[in-house]
Amino acid sequence: MSSTCFDRIAELVTNRPELGDGSPLGLRRDAAVVVEDGEVVWVGDAGAAPATDDHRDLTGRCVLPAFVDSHSHLVFGGERVGEFAARMSGRAYTAGGIRTTIAATRAAPVEELRRRAGLLLAEMRRQGTGVVEIKSGYGAEVATERRSLEVAGELTAETTYLGAHVMGPEFADDPAGYVTLVTGEMLAACAPLARWVDVFVEDGAFDGDQARAILRAGAERGLGARVHANQLGPGPGVQVACEVGAASADHCTHLDARDVAALADSGTVATLVPGAEFSTRSPVYADGRRLMAAGVTVALATDCNPGTSYTTSMPFVIALAVRECGLTPSEAVWAATAGSAAALRREDVGHLGLGAAAWLSVLDAPSHQYLAYRPGVPLARLLTAPEGVTARAPGVGGPGSASQVASR
Ligand code: NIG
Ligand code: FE
Repeated sequence: MSSTCFDRIAELVTNRPELGDGSPLGLRRDAAVVVEDGEVVWVGDAGAAPATDDHRDLTGRCVLPAFVDSHSHLVFGGERVGEFAARMSGRAYTAGGIRTTIAATRAAPVEELRRRAGLLLAEMRRQGTGVVEIKSGYGAEVATERRSLEVAGELTAETTYLGAHVMGPEFADDPAGYVTLVTGEMLAACAPLARWVDVFVEDGAFDGDQARAILRAGAERGLGARVHANQLGPGPGVQVACEVGAASADHCTHLDARDVAALADSGTVATLVPGAEFSTRSPVYADGRRLMAAGVTVALATDCNPGTSYTTSMPFVIALAVRECGLTPSEAVWAATAGSAAALRREDVGHLGLGAAAWLSVLDAPSHQYLAYRPGVPLARLLTAPEGVTARAPGVGGPGSASQVASR
């Protein structure tokens, strides 16, 4: 048993309205929070906490639930800086770039995939992120998809089978054959290693009927659904996601009124990934304001991948969502914590209510609004994490613990 009191917090974001000022962020000023054995066990006024083993003074700082990054592609070989530079001089993004990374991922030894994914995860943790979802999708063949999920599963419980990212290059003339593989042999090999199944619904990737077949096959193996939807243009992605009861429709950049209504009427979260719009130089960003006005649950994620969004920074995504997607600073912080926890159907993270998992982050700033107010400034870091988690890259340092993270 070990307990720590984080005390004299200038602003505590609980995401539990009843624990604070009644707003969705449940803000408390001059607050304290006690963490014991990997859980939040007490929240209240500064100086009023019960006795604990350890005590940390966080005068002048904001404490919040660690960010939840509910959409990332951390397992890949190679990088695509040349493609990025070409886009910045005017070339358009197409889904075809994914094939470059498929070739590099197939060729990469598993230790290299593991080492690089671990470094990216450590980079996330250094910027205040706790729980992370990680997809396969750069294999497009059974062995590499499975290997990617093995690596992902060493880093997170939120693993996603994305065999349906693009058609495997061997199936350029046989899309039906690739769907048969994705719903058959590849799914059988990957489902035991995954919690979720995802499909990229887009021209040049998969259409609505193919997506339905793949998501249903995944559901039969116990996988929850997620969809890459309406990223590069209008399409059926959001409708399919809502129809199958997906946890999340991700991107949501090109929506019509029917799409917005479907999201509002379903339990499907809209996950915005404005890092992708930034890095593809998209002329439009997802309209978060319109989604919020319609009552849709909105989440934010990095979509970290070597093609369209090579950032691990949730603070950067928050700043973009405020500037470009029309969210207020408070809405963006909620979306990056409680919203993205909802996108993973997780009730133990994304808030600091009693019994929450002890994923806490701290800002070198007095309020959450500074995340958007001071873009590009490294204000956020992980403060504490459930036992066994470290902000160092796996394999780079020794095994970590809550107190090691806290004492950085
Ligand atoms: O989420 N949209 C599809 N997948 C990724 C892009 C992957 C790539 O270009 O390598 C995304 O943006
Ligand atoms: Fe993605």
